Amino acid sequence: MNIVLYLCAGQGSRMEASVPKQFISVCGKPLFSYAYETFASLEEIDAIAFVVSKENLHYFQENISCTKPIFFIPGGDTRGESVYQGLTFLKEHVSMEDLILIHDSARALIDKETILNNLKCAQKNGNAITSIEVVDSVLYGKEEVEKELNREELFLAQTPQSFYLKDIWNAYTYAKKKNFSASDDASIALFYGQKIYKSKGNIKNFKITTKEDLKRMRLWLEKSQ
Ligand code: CTP
Ligand code: MG
Repeated sequence: MNIVLYLCAGQGSRMEASVPKQFISVCGKPLFSYAYETFASLEEIDAIAFVVSKENLHYFQENISCTKPIFFIPGGDTRGESVYQGLTFLKEHVSMEDLILIHDSARALIDKETILNNLKCAQKNGNAITSIEVVDSVLYGKEEVEKELNREELFLAQTPQSFYLKDIWNAYTYAKKKNFSASDDASIALFYGQKIYKSKGNIKNFKITTKEDLKRMRLWLEKSQ
């Protein structure tokens, strides 16, 4: 089975809004519903596990319905802890051989092609990190610029980041034991020593973090109408 671990438990502090960013209404519907609907529309996706904050568990349980199996899991204080809570739940409810597509609900404009690229890559190689090439020059250094990095060798990580449950569970439990934390799942799997594969992302799949990003999202939506 291919199961989405759908992260909606953040506070959205950089958005500086009165509600967590996933609840902000964008063109008539909450931000979290965009990527969810794209995943739910794909026949390749078998189930969706929402990770939500404890305070909003009831809201999601009451307001989301789907033709596919869905789960609601209380998250943690950081993204890493929310993923860990999600994996702990899945370990008890689905097979260790299932593929888990971990996705930030804040990447609202994910398209079907990016999801399918990621799924195919993970099925072939055992895991897949959605990523895009770097187009700007990248400079390194604290106060003075020390060097330019070779952008041909650099990639920006997006989500989904997908792994077989047994592998990502082992990686997260190892990282927890060693007190290692990271802002994404690829870094956890790398820390555990797994070989990581890339799949082709899309600039539209940017993470909505600030008010500027929200404007950019609205522009994309207007353009595509
Ligand atoms: N996330 C989560 N649980 C957390 C923190 C983050 O499920 N404790 C989710 C967010 O809902 C988001 C994704 O992880 O979809 C990426 O995190 P980020 O963009 O950093 O969202 P927030 O943590 O909500 O925003 P901020 O860092 O500005 O507070
Ligand atoms: Mg955050």
